[in-house]
Amino acid sequence: MPIVHVYPGVADLARAAAERFVDLAAESIAARGRFLVALAGGSTPGETYSLLASDQFSAKVDWPRVHLLWGDERCVPPDHLESNYRMVRERLLNRVPLPDGNVHRIPCELSPEEAARAYEGELIALAAGESGTGREGGNAVPRLDLILLGMGEDGHTASIFPGSEALVERRRLALAQFVEKLHAWRVTMTPVVINAARMVTFLVAGSSKARTLRKALQASPEGAGLPVQVVQPWAGSLLWMVDEDAAALTGELSDNA
Ligand code: 6PG
Repeated sequence: MPIVHVYPGVADLARAAAERFVDLAAESIAARGRFLVALAGGSTPGETYSLLASDQFSAKVDWPRVHLLWGDERCVPPDHLESNYRMVRERLLNRVPLPDGNVHRIPCELSPEEAARAYEGELIALAAGESGTGREGGNAVPRLDLILLGMGEDGHTASIFPGSEALVERRRLALAQFVEKLHAWRVTMTPVVINAARMVTFLVAGSSKARTLRKALQASPEGAGLPVQVVQPWAGSLLWMVDEDAAALTGELSDNA
């Protein structure tokens, strides 16, 4: 049964997510000297990132020991309005003392395939010398401490969309995907990396997600599920942090935080 925490509104959700980020960062840095965290794109997590950069939270994080990654990226330049990197730079990076070398963005100024390969190399380099990495097909898989994910109304997460080859990928750590419905290229982490994480947390808000969230939280027969249902950390925890609007149809499937 997935763990679901329900918050009154999107502001409560953002605050709780920022608090968990601070706690997990402290735990990871104490245990391993660094905090490897992949951020979600889209609109939901933006307020969490702004809170982390605020006076209330920023001083609680040992930023020089934090390594930022992304769950996915749109194949646009890093200063493009659609760029997940640009969103995080504006909300967070420009306001906290995180060293440039700790920013592991997906280089979508390259071609989609080149960006995926480059990002995969970055992930493998991060895994080098780390104990306990899962090994998929010879590549060391980094065990990130936290991966934040969103969920689309179609049940996609990161840029793993219904029917995409990323759903069944078992070797590559990152893939370039042409998303028909968006008519756009994306680069995404694959389930190989996502499911190796110590903690995966979905942030979902709004009534438009209620129907999909109810379906996502119900066990689904193999292959009939939503992309979010491939997220099953093999040695980590999975937590859904949602607001009441998104949880309106989940009833007994969720508890109140
Ligand atoms: C992206 C995200 C994507 C997002 C969902 C939910 O690049 O857009 O990675 O997976 O998390 O589409 O987006 P919202 O938070 O905007 O609803």
